[in-house]
Amino acid sequence: MTAKPPILLNNPVSYSGTMQVLDREFTVHRLDRAKDRLALARSVADGCRVIVTPGHDPVPAELLDAAPKLGLVACFGVGYDAIDVPLMTKRGIRVTNTPDVLTDEVADLAMALLLAITRRVVKADRYVRSGDWAGKGNMDFTPSLTGGKTVGIVGLGRIGKAIARRCQAFNLAIAYYGRHAQNEVPYRYYGDLLAMARDVDFLILCCPGGEATKNLVNRAVLEALGPKGILVNVSRGSVVEEEALAPALASGRLGGAALDVFQKEPTHPFALSELTENLVLSPHQASATHETRGAMGQLMIDNINAFLAGGALLTPVN
Ligand code: 8YV
Repeated sequence: MTAKPPILLNNPVSYSGTMQVLDREFTVHRLDRAKDRLALARSVADGCRVIVTPGHDPVPAELLDAAPKLGLVACFGVGYDAIDVPLMTKRGIRVTNTPDVLTDEVADLAMALLLAITRRVVKADRYVRSGDWAGKGNMDFTPSLTGGKTVGIVGLGRIGKAIARRCQAFNLAIAYYGRHAQNEVPYRYYGDLLAMARDVDFLILCCPGGEATKNLVNRAVLEALGPKGILVNVSRGSVVEEEALAPALASGRLGGAALDVFQKEPTHPFALSELTENLVLSPHQASATHETRGAMGQLMIDNINAFLAGGALLTPVN
């Protein structure tokens, strides 16, 4: 029997099936369980060429120093906002992520959140369960998703395009904001987020996280979206100025928000008793189906095996 290749695990990936496959195929050295992470990294440094990490957990330079043979940072997730890619490139370390396999899943949750907040689906569920329907009569009317409304997509990448296709099926007009106009798409481009927020009914965030997009959706953008505007976030909590969001919702300066991601997960900054009407929350679930998390794990492992075999990486970042 050949020995299983050793790998470092920065933090567990959020799918137990993938954790099991990792344990079956590799000798996993768990930094998350180590009293001294650097000491563990040093103790296995000789054979360890791969570190596995969720893309939102950093792999700091001192860890690279402790395990200098590392050649691959294999991220679980399409986002790798916590990984210092220029540093990895400088040190000759490859980075992989898990794009494509989660695109439809994330787009589906964006639509679910958009529908849930617009048509007050969560409130309606509470209304029936609490006995209010029987006690108080019919629930109030809600805003409509249809009727010539416009959605503004922030980040028209793979996920943004999948969201746009779904929005087309709902007869929404589509605008997008990003660094560049994309000539091959039929949607209206804005190079100015504030201008787009003023013009749209719904703003859906699906851009990458990280420094370049930190607090991109700030107080001014939220206010431009306005009292009837709705924000949906399936990207990263860091993209929204969260300190401005709760007051905007509480005062009615922003119409509603449905959020899958937060700045300090697993916590959130809202006074929920105030925001029963216009806020829907989800615990970072966009890719969280058995099928998609399994596919993400498999793609990550395929990248690791390709790297260890000296072959071409399937989904390289650098
Ligand atoms: C996962 C994600 O929740 O792909 C991403 O970037 O945020 C999600 O798919 C995350 O990777 C779980 O660790």
